[in-house]
Amino acid sequence: MAPAAGRLVLCSNDYLGYATTGRLGAVPEGVGSGCGASRLVAGEHDAHLGLEGALCRWLGTDAALVFTSGYAANVGLLSALAGPGDLVVSDALNHASIVDGCRLSRATVVVVPHLRPEAVRDAFRASTARRRFVVTESYFSMDGDCADLCALREVCDAYDAALLVDEAHALGVFGPAGRGRCAELGVRPDALVGTFGKALGAGGAFVAGSAPLVDWLWNRARSFVFSTGLSPAVASLAARGVQLAEGDEAGRASLEQVAGALREILREVGAPLAPSTGPILPVVLGDAGGALRAARALADLGVHVQAIRPPTVPAGSARLRVTASAVLGADGLERARRAFVSAFRASP
Ligand SMILES: Cc1ncc(COP(=O)(O)O)c(C=O)c1O
Repeated sequence: MAPAAGRLVLCSNDYLGYATTGRLGAVPEGVGSGCGASRLVAGEHDAHLGLEGALCRWLGTDAALVFTSGYAANVGLLSALAGPGDLVVSDALNHASIVDGCRLSRATVVVVPHLRPEAVRDAFRASTARRRFVVTESYFSMDGDCADLCALREVCDAYDAALLVDEAHALGVFGPAGRGRCAELGVRPDALVGTFGKALGAGGAFVAGSAPLVDWLWNRARSFVFSTGLSPAVASLAARGVQLAEGDEAGRASLEQVAGALREILREVGAPLAPSTGPILPVVLGDAGGALRAARALADLGVHVQAIRPPTVPAGSARLRVTASAVLGADGLERARRAFVSAFRASP
């Protein structure tokens, strides 16, 4: 269901409002709209190198590589690093792009229950794999809860494993200068995946880490090698998103305030809000029919909140994934309040 014009959207990942307010500005004169080829062939542009340099400065990594999407970054990373004979331990609620990357790697994949570092340790203890990897989101996209990155780093260090962290929903939102949850906790992942299509307001994604890691991905990540590079125009906008997010303490404060207000409203109206932190507020209704009915009731009131159903979330946990935006404003909050009051009084 696409949002109708004029509808208040409360399920976007544009957490800081950069995508919808034009804050990233125009593409600089002379920056091309397309690459014309894979980066390895003739598609390398200054905009890519500028963006990768900005990422390294922001995140404090030696290297970064830009992909056309977060899906491509996760699939490329996992299938380039892990292979037959290796073990990848993956959180049960990891994003589909991580799941598909695990599958493509042809490594042994052990899916552990959500947020259970001790299960990761058990998987390592039971394995004789040549190389080991843990892959997790830092801030989970459908549940708004957080991986225990310190515990995962400890387990990885104890078993000589690599920690791969997807910060898609955390960059720009958490941590010092919006650098995400790894930075907030002082945890150094072996590879950090970020996307430009969420808080940073543009599109595309990246993997950041060591120079040898990025060299390896340059040649081995098939979703990078065999795909036309990210549009230079989009790369230049993404660089502006990084620059803005780095200094946007006001945006993060506003986002926190809006998320707090939405949480309070949802609790007040008796919506079945699952515990979460940050801008993602999962209203877990259980069956898909209930979630669809609630989404339709809100749509009739001018508010767009997509019903999220299996297989995006596990069976029996269909939900409305309500998200906060720093630019919702007092009017938006009031519209949201009125809609939630009506929808949750009338339905579940
Ligand atoms: C955790 C996570 N990783 C990766 C992606 C994929 O990012 P993209 O939309 O840039 O392909 C998403 C998209 O929703 C996501 O939630």
